[in-house]
Amino acid sequence: MPKMTFIERNGNHKTVEAPLGLSVLEIAHRHDVDIEGACEGSLACSTCHVVVDAAWFAKLVKPTEDEEDMLDLAFDLQETSRLGCQLIMTDALDGLVVKLPAATRNAGG
Ligand code: FES
Repeated sequence: MPKMTFIERNGNHKTVEAPLGLSVLEIAHRHDVDIEGACEGSLACSTCHVVVDAAWFAKLVKPTEDEEDMLDLAFDLQETSRLGCQLIMTDALDGLVVKLPAATRNAGG
């Protein structure tokens, strides 16, 4: 089974099993990683924002225009920001590393 690592806000690295076909958001929820994902992956929020490790960013499928539009609304947007619900685990992403952004719009900004 592929694995992926979340870097939590306190700097803790959490490496978890990442079943193929699940989104990064779904994987986070299975393992109590603090990504909100308010719209459950329907591209209607930006609370599933994650900052992808630079080495991995280029390996991801490019974001759709809808994802880019939503990302523009994300708090603490960075060059390698993506929406976690749009990143689907594949064999090629085994070892993926993403960091939680400093805050989301809903979390006391
Ligand atoms: Fe809302 Fe990803 S969960 S856009």
